[in-house]
Amino acid sequence: MFGAAVGLAEQYVSILAGRGVEWGLIGPRETERLWPRHVLNSLAVSGFVPDGSAVVDVGSGAGLPGIPLALARPDLKITLLEPLERRAKFLQLAVDELGLNDRVRVVRGRAEEHKGRYDVVTCRAVAPLDRLLGWTAHLFQPGGRLVALKGQSAAAEVDALDRVLARRKLSGRVASVTPHRDVEETFVVVLS
Ligand SMILES: C[S@@+](CC[C@H](N)C(=O)[O-])C[C@H]1O[C@@H](n2cnc3c(N)ncnc32)[C@H](O)[C@@H]1O
Repeated sequence: MFGAAVGLAEQYVSILAGRGVEWGLIGPRETERLWPRHVLNSLAVSGFVPDGSAVVDVGSGAGLPGIPLALARPDLKITLLEPLERRAKFLQLAVDELGLNDRVRVVRGRAEEHKGRYDVVTCRAVAPLDRLLGWTAHLFQPGGRLVALKGQSAAAEVDALDRVLARRKLSGRVASVTPHRDVEETFVVVLS
C-alpha cells in the first residue's frame, strides 16, 4: 500500500513505537498494533482525496492520518495542524527524519483559528462531526471537502447534521472501508 515508501512507513512505525511512546503520544499497549490500528487504518481516507490535493490534517497528534497519507500519496501537499507544543515538535522531528519537508509542513495551531484554503480537510479522533464542521468549514469551503475517519457512530452523526449541512449547501455520505485484509472495517465521512 505504500509502494516505494514502505521503508519510510517502517521508519515511521519505529518513531511511533520509540519517541511516540516516550513522549506520551502513543500508549505503550498500542505498540503491538501500530500497523493495523493506526498506520493502515489511516489510509482509509486516501480514496476520498483527489489527485494533487492540498490537504490539512486537523488535530494530527502523532501524525495520523496525515503522515501515512503523505507517505502513500506523493502527489499531495499536506499541512499537519496541531495545537499542542509537544505534539507539534514530535511532528516536525518525524517530518524531518522521514525527509518529507518538501511537501509536508507542520503548523502549531487550532483549526478554528487557522487561516488557509485547502482542497481537503482530514481528521481522525478529534471531535464530534458537528464541532469539526464548525471548526473547519472555512478551511475547505467552497469547493473542497472534509474527510473524517469515524467509528460506528458515523451514519448517526451525519444524519444528525441534516439541517446544518443543508444550510451550508453541503451533502454528507458515509463509506465503509477496509483498507487491508488485516485491518478492521472503518467508516469514512465525506462532507462536500
Ligand atoms: C485524540 S487526538 C487524535 C490525534 C490523531 N488524529 C490520531 O488519530 O491519533 C486529538 C488531537 O486533536 C487535537 N485538537 C484538539 N482540539 C483541536 C482544535 N481545535 N484544532 C486542532 N486540533 C485540535 C489535540 O491536540 C490532539 O492532538
